[in-house]
Amino acid sequence: MQNELKEIRDRILQAVSEATDIATLDEVETVHLGRKSEFSQKMKGLGGLSADERKAVGQLANEIKEQIRTAVETRRDELKAAAYKDLATADRIDVTVPGEQPEQGHRHLTSQAINDIVRIFSRLGFTRERHPEVDWDWFTFESLNMPPDHPARDEWETFFVDAPVHKKKGKMVLTPHTTSGTARELKKGKLPIRMMNIGKTFRRQIDVSHTPMFHQFEGLLVDRDVSVTHLKGVLDYFASEFFGAGRRTRLRPFHFRFTEPSFEIDISCGICDGTGKSEDGGKCRLCKEGWLELGGAGMLHPNVLTAGGVDPEEYSALAFGWGVERTMMMRAGIMVDDIRVLYKSDFRFLNQF
Ligand code: DAH
Repeated sequence: MQNELKEIRDRILQAVSEATDIATLDEVETVHLGRKSEFSQKMKGLGGLSADERKAVGQLANEIKEQIRTAVETRRDELKAAAYKDLATADRIDVTVPGEQPEQGHRHLTSQAINDIVRIFSRLGFTRERHPEVDWDWFTFESLNMPPDHPARDEWETFFVDAPVHKKKGKMVLTPHTTSGTARELKKGKLPIRMMNIGKTFRRQIDVSHTPMFHQFEGLLVDRDVSVTHLKGVLDYFASEFFGAGRRTRLRPFHFRFTEPSFEIDISCGICDGTGKSEDGGKCRLCKEGWLELGGAGMLHPNVLTAGGVDPEEYSALAFGWGVERTMMMRAGIMVDDIRVLYKSDFRFLNQF
């Protein structure tokens, strides 16, 4: 019996010394010393021995257990030390290596222009408000003095949303101009008003000079005794701040349903300074006769004020609105042969700005 125990011990010690990681060592321990182990089974036969023999074998068994325990502990310490040593080489971080700079983006040039526009008008007390980019026909057209079936609506190349028609507000549309914020702003009932509405606008046009989604900005000033003089002052301020000192605007009579009088706004050409002539006496290469076309403006039509619940006898309003993309391209002097490049997410183009 004693020899058998010693054999078992030798096998266990062998297995312990051969364990190359802690998991294997744990397994050796349970397999060889656990309740079902060969060693434990042998100890169960102890009862059949004489008292003397039982004492001798019992003592040996205890010694063996102790030997194995020590061997396991020693081996465990060795394995742990080795694992830490590996860790030091495998997981080493060289804190002196220069870091990897994450690529840093910047705002899209349209967003940059929008920020500039907001900043300029805010100095005149205009606050940016948000109005829906998907809205009812009523706000988009009817409240703007364009009754259903009025031919002027055709100019806005509208996308209609496939949605139930509202009894009073009509069809739902993707707003083709930011002027649709006008009645919404008037209906807030807080006067006077100095508002900017800047947002996405949509029209059924796509070619080298049109994207079906673009941006417009709209200014609305409602107060007592507002006149065309104020309109001209606001526009001139914008022109010199956005395009540079010395740039002037010109109001050209035009027709919009929602303003009376209505104007198209031109800005003096930055190349020929409004003369229309190049230095060698020929025609300016950029403009027609010294002026570039910017957008629309006017004094709000009394019907529009009324639709928004404002008394046109007491209040008057100036309004203006036009495209962000066109304006910013004019400022930067960017000549692209296809405007759609703005929204193609092509970094070769965008990273230049
Ligand atoms: N909404 C017009 C358009 O998209 C532009 C416009 C003209 C806006 C005159 C105005 C305005 O506020 O007064 O063509």
